[in-house]
Amino acid sequence: MLILAPSILAADFKNLGQQVTDTANAGARYIHLDVMDGAFVPSISFGMPVIASLRSCTDRIFDVHMMVEEPGRYISDIKAAGADLICVHAEACRHLDRTVNQIKEAGLKAGVALNPATPLSVLDCILPELDMVLIMTVNPGFGGQKFIPYTLEKVRNLRSMIKQRGLETDIQVDGGVTCDNVRDLIEAGANVFVAGSAVFKGDAAANTRKFLDIFEEYER
Ligand code: DX5
Ligand code: ZN
Repeated sequence: MLILAPSILAADFKNLGQQVTDTANAGARYIHLDVMDGAFVPSISFGMPVIASLRSCTDRIFDVHMMVEEPGRYISDIKAAGADLICVHAEACRHLDRTVNQIKEAGLKAGVALNPATPLSVLDCILPELDMVLIMTVNPGFGGQKFIPYTLEKVRNLRSMIKQRGLETDIQVDGGVTCDNVRDLIEAGANVFVAGSAVFKGDAAANTRKFLDIFEEYER
């Protein structure tokens, strides 16, 4: 199944609840929540109180992308705030296996994110444990950046690695995803698509439907 995960980073924060409701009602299955600590990435975004207060807007999957050093410190707090899925960066975890297991033991789905320059080989041992791999298609830290073309090949290689091992891991892509490049990403093997600017700049419901119409072309 092809899934849209609108990233609220690009939303109008004074109308955040309404914006989340609009995209969810239009058919987005995930809500992508970017937590940034000002250390792993240069920027600071939002944390537990914002996630917790959005929880009452929708029952869609809350997909929390932790751009945080040693995110294992926050798993139980992020769960309490309402996360369904937590994705941590391989580059930010000294003990990646422990952190992934913490997420799973908390009863949540677990994902690992890779920066554009991080090779797929870091997934070699941990892949069978994961529900999702997030391939960053920009350098994390800001919305509105340009898609990095070489990451397309990385998605293709990851999909064949997953198939070869008989797994069914989701591949999420994040950064610079638009209605113009999403077909290439689908064809490369991604199935969860984060979009910030492409959803929230303009009419969030109409933009959501544009992505879903493209997904339908492939699901017919
Ligand atoms: C970037 C974040 C993204 C960001 C994507 O570090 O992880 O989720 O919001 O924004 P766009 O779609 O505008 O590139
Ligand atoms: Zn993200």
